[in-house]
Amino acid sequence: PEGAHRDDAGRLVVGGVDAVALARDFGTPLYVVDEQVARSRAARTLAAFEAAAASVGTQVTVYYAGKAFLSGAVVRWMTEAGLSIDVCTGGELAVALAAGAEPARLGFHGNNKSVGEIERAVAAGVGTIVIDSEIEIERVADAAARAGIRQRVRLRVNSGVHASTHEFLATAHEDQKFGVSLDHAVELGERIRSRPSLDFVGLHCHIGSQIFDSAGFAESAERLLAAHAELSRTAPVPELNLGGGFGIAYTSADEPEPIERIALGIAQAVAEGCRANGVPVPRLAFEPGRSIIGPAGVTLYTVGTVKPVPLDGGVWRHYVSVDGGMSDNARTALYGADYSARIASRRSEAEPALVRVAGKHCESGDIVVDAEYLPHDVAPGDLLAVAATGAYCWSLSNNYNHVPRPPVVAVRDGVARVIVRGETESDLRARDADLDPAEPGRAG
Ligand code: LLP
Repeated sequence: PEGAHRDDAGRLVVGGVDAVALARDFGTPLYVVDEQVARSRAARTLAAFEAAAASVGTQVTVYYAGKAFLSGAVVRWMTEAGLSIDVCTGGELAVALAAGAEPARLGFHGNNKSVGEIERAVAAGVGTIVIDSEIEIERVADAAARAGIRQRVRLRVNSGVHASTHEFLATAHEDQKFGVSLDHAVELGERIRSRPSLDFVGLHCHIGSQIFDSAGFAESAERLLAAHAELSRTAPVPELNLGGGFGIAYTSADEPEPIERIALGIAQAVAEGCRANGVPVPRLAFEPGRSIIGPAGVTLYTVGTVKPVPLDGGVWRHYVSVDGGMSDNARTALYGADYSARIASRRSEAEPALVRVAGKHCESGDIVVDAEYLPHDVAPGDLLAVAATGAYCWSLSNNYNHVPRPPVVAVRDGVARVIVRGETESDLRARDADLDPAEPGRAG
């Protein structure tokens, strides 16, 4: 993992803390976040986009996309690094506000925000609300009018560019639930402008996640800028938000471009598009989540069983089962995501063997790392570290098979502290209305 090393005894050290000590003190599975890595990736991302924006004569707002992983500590790390925060539900909004994020520096997303959520955002003074559909124009306008304010809003547009990992596709219409179609962007932008309680700041798009080919961002910016320019004929459009989605390395096969180069490439594409359309370069905005917090996380597991299974051709696959799985990391099962695993508790010179790191859930798709080479002496009791689990692992965690969620521990300068408490089996039982001792007569 980024920022980690092995000590003389061959044990993994993260944020100055020995993985064996972490496992002993907090148990496994354990989510570990290297605070320094998270903070420095946030700062570097902001600096990269600021430099890129300056190079084309504009400014930028970088939001941290809280859906990747949000907690009080993370909100503070991000805001201290100078980032704004993007939330997409009332729950995320509540966490950001409770952690002291400045309301004016929050962005609020979502394709189906409830009226209650919109009212809470308006009442809290959220900086911008991203309107995702025609219906939402009236909802947000009415909520702002009732509150007696003028709400800054963006309009999310489906640019027809869909990007994922190593490729991007550009189609006329993309069949998905987010945003309004590019064909209606101008008409709906003008509709927003016609509502006195709304302040239209610009268009938004987000083309996907874990993207390596930044040509998709350029294509999307180009498409959006045509609508942006048309809207600029009636009044200036101050901003353009191009979303998040920058890819990270999960395994050694992934080679993301440095963020500085991505930022510069996008800024140049925007500047070019603006020149072609005869409009000034707007203020830019981005919303990366994964690329900031993903590499800062590592999950520790304890190996429970090792089982060799014969494959065709005299090859063996060793199923290495750990004490977590799809409840703490659903990404492999959900998306076929790739991860890498290492023995964290010792060094081994043993020959590598093909292993599949599996979880403990009752489902054969419960896999953490599909294919990995680990020393063939990997054995029960070994600690395994799975890198780059900082984004969308805790956020997507669940209680499948009544497995409690692990805690999240932040490490920094040799000190570990719990930033999100784990659950216990009794926490889970306490939600069962028929097992709750507080409801006598029901448990029998
Ligand atoms: N902005 C918007 C509007 C988004 O929908 C997203 C992610 C982001 C920003 C941040 O994207 P990022 O920089 O983190 O790629 N659960 C999936 C990822 C879902 C992404 C959803 N939207 C996964 O684990 O791969």
